[in-house]
Amino acid sequence: MKIKQVILQAFHDQPDRFISGEELSQTCGCSRTAVWKHIEELRRDGYEVEAVRKLGYRLLTAPDRLSAAEITAGLGTKKIGQHVYAYDEVVSTQPLAHDAAAKGAVEGTLVLAEQQTGGKGRLGRPWHSPKGTGIWMSLIVRPSIPLPKTPQMTLLTAVCVARTIREETGLPVKIKWPNDIFIGDKKVCGILTELNAESDRVNYLVIGIGLNVNSVESDFPEELAQVGTSLRIESGQAISRVRFIQQFCRIFEETYEQFLLEGFQPIKSEWEAYSYTIGRLVTLQTISKKLEGRAIGLDEEGVLLVEDEAGLVHKVYSADVNY
Ligand code: BTN
Repeated sequence: MKIKQVILQAFHDQPDRFISGEELSQTCGCSRTAVWKHIEELRRDGYEVEAVRKLGYRLLTAPDRLSAAEITAGLGTKKIGQHVYAYDEVVSTQPLAHDAAAKGAVEGTLVLAEQQTGGKGRLGRPWHSPKGTGIWMSLIVRPSIPLPKTPQMTLLTAVCVARTIREETGLPVKIKWPNDIFIGDKKVCGILTELNAESDRVNYLVIGIGLNVNSVESDFPEELAQVGTSLRIESGQAISRVRFIQQFCRIFEETYEQFLLEGFQPIKSEWEAYSYTIGRLVTLQTISKKLEGRAIGLDEEGVLLVEDEAGLVHKVYSADVNY
């Protein structure tokens, strides 16, 4: 761990307490002068650190900046979020995560950025990712599951995002099949899962999550203003992105472990409880055909079941949905 990270971890472990320069130098294995230099660096990064003679240092406030040190401090997971690549500006976190995964990045690695200039959405659409307002991140996972089960990981991720939103904000969140997170009738989050596999073996998945957190109305371009929203707009409060990511990582780790042990059933129930889609009349456009009917549930594998006018039940693996 870098010295800055060790210092932040010490502040986090003992909140509100002054920690002496001597103690910090022992924890970090460096000189007191080095500790002082790193505290100065933290201040330049936007941390407010109080220094009192004979008492030591105390952290007053931390910036809501997406740095590896902030996200890993006090995280407490085994894998998810323990390795973080944080950037100021990238084209998209997805290819960076693919590169990292191909070079052996461990499961749970996060690639995130304050801003994406070419954010990618599903079906080749762009994903608007303005600076500092949202969570634009890609998570690398390496599940030992057969290829046909990989779409379940997207449903699992949607459940985890929905639960984190519910816990952190109390907002009434819904999942629109397969993986759009809605508040009311506006989209707050999208998920893009990309797969790297050989024959029937999954090498890794890159799960891209785009969540509008602190955006205000003017942050949305005209074409998105009517259909998109943010946690801040809906709750009337600024939300700590660092805290949100940490809580998401904890929830994801727990849910993912449960999924690997017990299978899809618990996720299916929770997904259905959050569902915006089940019970509604939908029009689905798949690559080959258009289908109209009522969404009646997920099957045991996570495939959407749609009943048409004639009472015939269709299995839908992938489609663009309209309501
Ligand atoms: C959707 O179309 O709803 C999916 C949007 C996914 C956006 C996220 S933001 C982080 C990651 N990087 C990207 O370029 N896209 C995903």
